[in-house]
Amino acid sequence: MKTILTGLRVGSELTLGNFLGALLPMVRLANKYSSEMNVNIFVPDLHSIVGPVDVDLRKNTVLSLKYYLAAGLKLNQNVHIYRQSYVPAHSEMLWLLNSLSTMGELSRMTQFKEKSAGKKSVDVGIFDYPVLMAADILLYDANYIPVGEDQFQHLELTRNLAMRTNNKFGDIFTIPEKTEDQVKFMGNKEGVRIRDLVNPEKKMSKSARSENSKIMLTDKPEVAAKKIMSATTDSVGKIQYDMFNQPGISNLLQIEALINDKPLQDVISTWAGETRYGDLKKQVASSVSAFLSDLQENVAAISDDMIYELFEVGEAYANDIADKKLLKLQKALKLR
Ligand code: TYM
Repeated sequence: MKTILTGLRVGSELTLGNFLGALLPMVRLANKYSSEMNVNIFVPDLHSIVGPVDVDLRKNTVLSLKYYLAAGLKLNQNVHIYRQSYVPAHSEMLWLLNSLSTMGELSRMTQFKEKSAGKKSVDVGIFDYPVLMAADILLYDANYIPVGEDQFQHLELTRNLAMRTNNKFGDIFTIPEKTEDQVKFMGNKEGVRIRDLVNPEKKMSKSARSENSKIMLTDKPEVAAKKIMSATTDSVGKIQYDMFNQPGISNLLQIEALINDKPLQDVISTWAGETRYGDLKKQVASSVSAFLSDLQENVAAISDDMIYELFEVGEAYANDIADKKLLKLQKALKLR
């Protein structure tokens, strides 16, 4: 059986970018394929302690799972929900993969370069972070990993590490699909990158300083609507999809399409020939606020106990699968 796998860090609250880039696609794929594929949804809590942590991690872990259910995730015996730190094989696989990774390839990771730029002291965790991500994926022979575009480079690294290990030791890991096939599997033409509302040339990020840059899933719907209304646009004066010259307007079209589960092309056609940016903003503001109020209402109806019960079953499953894969590599390395 094939496996779809994804995770979202919970070191701070989640943004609309996390939701539209990874969480919602995962829910849609899970509902489509969970009768024939394993669906692994895990909380990378060990990744979440890299960098500053300004929240209660355990609380956010539970909340993040509630978002999947609130977004319509259907559960069955193939849907597995677990926390990374409750499956010790992740940490051990990280160490084994470290010995197969090079400083050079990790130094080339954009996320590392961005996060370490200009800093005197950089955590080892920030540097080694993509190797832990590779461990998360390879332990479960995952084929499809729905993530936003910012994580594609880490997926490529994961594929390289898997191929390198297999070349050395035989058939240890399943190689995840190429990123272009991941994008197709997600039903998109290109990777999703929701933009910062104030500086639309950047991705929407939890760490953006200005509150107006980002929509948090906990934002009051009317606050989120205001942020959309004040989003940076351009002086071109035409509503069209052109991420290079009109990233702000293109971002709004993208958000409108993803939230309403419409093909981007349809939304682009609806607005073709229109010139009034205010009308587009009003429409997107109304979509975003309706979406947030539904989501928040759904979240409030889910109990913590339900999530802990899912963890209990999911972690028993995950430990079993992960331990077997770990043993395979331990044997190849003559540790066992
Ligand atoms: P993280 O926690 O930074 O983000 C979680 C997911 O949200 C996506 N995302 C976005 N997508 C579109 N537009 C945006 N502005 C945007 N911001 C974030 C990310 O691409 C990601 O899919 N390393 C991962 C977590 C992780 C993981 C894994 C994912 C750890 N192990 C194994 C998949 C498989 C991360 O830091 O994502």
